[in-house]
Amino acid sequence: MPHGSIFQAPDPSFSFFVHHSSFFMPMKLYLATHNKHKVQEIAEMLPGFEVVADDPAGIEETAPDFVGNAQIKVEAIAMRHPGCWCMADDSGLEVEALGGAPGVRSARYAGEPCDTEANNALLLHNLEGVENRKASFTCAIALVAPDRTRHTAVGKCNGRIALSASGAKGFGYDPLFVPDGYGETFAELGEAVKNAVSHRARALAEVKRIMTGL
Ligand code: IMP
Repeated sequence: MPHGSIFQAPDPSFSFFVHHSSFFMPMKLYLATHNKHKVQEIAEMLPGFEVVADDPAGIEETAPDFVGNAQIKVEAIAMRHPGCWCMADDSGLEVEALGGAPGVRSARYAGEPCDTEANNALLLHNLEGVENRKASFTCAIALVAPDRTRHTAVGKCNGRIALSASGAKGFGYDPLFVPDGYGETFAELGEAVKNAVSHRARALAEVKRIMTGL
C-alpha cells in the first residue's frame, strides 16, 4: 500500500479503513458481505472510507443477472443504515461457448455446497473438445448514496479458458482464466496484474468516479 495504513476496528462486525491523517474522520460505507477479504480489498481501493461489513444473511439472490443480484443485496442492508453509503457486489464467469454459463451460478456451478475444485473440473469437462474458449469475468456493484440515490457500476475482464488448471494464487476460476493480453492464468499472474485489469478493479474505478462526482 503506497500511503496510509489499514486500521482494523476491534469490533465483532469487522471493518477496515485506510487513513492518511490522524485528524481525519472516516465516512462509513456499509458493504453487504460476510467476506473479510472483500472488505479489506474495497477499503484499500476507497481510502478515506471506513468499510464495515453487514452480512445480508438469508437474502436469496434470485435475479437473472449480476446487477440485479447486487441490487437485491444492497437494498437488504440500506434500510439499516440511513444517511450512509451502502454497497453490494456480485460477480462471476461467463463462457461464450456455454451460452454464458456458469454466470450467476458461478459459485455453485457443480452444485451445493460451493466447491471450487468441482466447479473448475466441471467447466473443463464441459469445454472438452471445444475450440472457442472465450470467456469474461463480470463484477456488478450497486450503491445507495447517503441521499438515497441509487447507482450501479459494471466492470468486465475478457479472456479465455485454458486447457488445464495452472497457478496457485487467487481464488475460484483464477487457475483457468487467461486474461486478454497475457499468456498465463490469473492464478499464475498474481495480485498486482489482477488488481490492474480485473473486473472488480474496473467496477471499483467506476464506483470511485460516481462517488467523487456526487
Ligand atoms: P461472488 O460475487 O463473490 O459471490 O462470486 C461468485 C463466484 O464467481 C465466486 O465464487 C467465483 O467462483 C467466481 N468469481 C468471481 N470473481 C472471481 C475472480 O476474480 N476470480 C475467480 N473466480 C471469481
